[in-house]
Amino acid sequence: MTRVFVTRALPGGSGPGSPLARLRDAVDEVDVWEDEAPPSPAALLARSEDCDGLLSMLTERVDAALLDARPGLRVVANMAVGYDNVDVPACSARGVLVTNTPGVLTDATADMTWALLLAAARRLPEGRAAIEAGEWGPWHPSWLLGSAVTGRTLGIVGPGRIGAAVARRAQGFQMRVLYSGRSAKADFPGEFVPLDDLLARSDFVSIHVPLTEATRGMCDASFFARMQPHAVFVNTARGPVVDQGALTDALRADLIAGAGLDVMTPEPLPPDHPLLHAPRLVLAPHLGSATLETRTQMAHLAVDGLLAALTGERPVHLLNPDALTPDTREPDALDVTAATNDTARRRGRP
Ligand code: GLV
Ligand code: GLV
Repeated sequence: MTRVFVTRALPGGSGPGSPLARLRDAVDEVDVWEDEAPPSPAALLARSEDCDGLLSMLTERVDAALLDARPGLRVVANMAVGYDNVDVPACSARGVLVTNTPGVLTDATADMTWALLLAAARRLPEGRAAIEAGEWGPWHPSWLLGSAVTGRTLGIVGPGRIGAAVARRAQGFQMRVLYSGRSAKADFPGEFVPLDDLLARSDFVSIHVPLTEATRGMCDASFFARMQPHAVFVNTARGPVVDQGALTDALRADLIAGAGLDVMTPEPLPPDHPLLHAPRLVLAPHLGSATLETRTQMAHLAVDGLLAALTGERPVHLLNPDALTPDTREPDALDVTAATNDTARRRGRP
């Protein structure tokens, strides 16, 4: 008997071939959290009782306390590319496999980065607000002037998949691309430079690093002070990478021209939060991967990871190979639907 807790209704419906149907076909018991709000830590703990697998969202904290209380867990499939919500070393220490959903959301997130970049550069929210406030007067040659995009310099901090996809889009705008990160990447479409150079030379700076202890708060007062005063800052990675007080100060003091954020702290941002009063700041409520196509593919990938782990296969997007037991270290080609009970038996489960 295999049991899985899915922490939110999955996109893609429940028809044949949908992510949920694939899960239900392969697993004895699939429990789905149907509320729009995430389960509280207590609800997550209660509903994951007797679970072999957890299909989690980035809103769920999977930590040592949960793992210790649920020793039957064998896999956590996080439906996101980021996995800062999961204590991966704690999972590894307990032999719990962790998977994520990279690749399928790269283009959607790169598109969102460009949506924010262009909206901030051309001041779209201010224009809309002016219309609503009755402040749209006769056409004026110097009203709401924004920043040119074509032909300028884009700086990518964090040259991973999404950073590369953002850089490829810049070619259509005939931009020069600079990037910085831990090391140069042979196939990255841009010039590798130290972060100082990137900040000094870029007209647009876009963040694509994962949230780790090394990147937490990296966009601080000194970071913004090193940007050019006409430059625009964009973050579609994780909110805590940015010191929001420093960003607000930089915008207020005209140290930078504008910013666009898809991620922030806290999420959800309360409607009375000071960030909403920062000037020239475009905000989106964490929508980087939010297209039906992308979210459905993410759900399929999360299901793939979960089923592979439960059937003793090595998941394609396994984040912690150090958690593999000897029998899963051997890549084997078990049939996903037939093998679930078989694997459970092999591991001494009823
Ligand atoms: C979204 O933020 C993700 O990490 O997939
Ligand atoms: C603007 O609308 C223009 O015609 O230049």
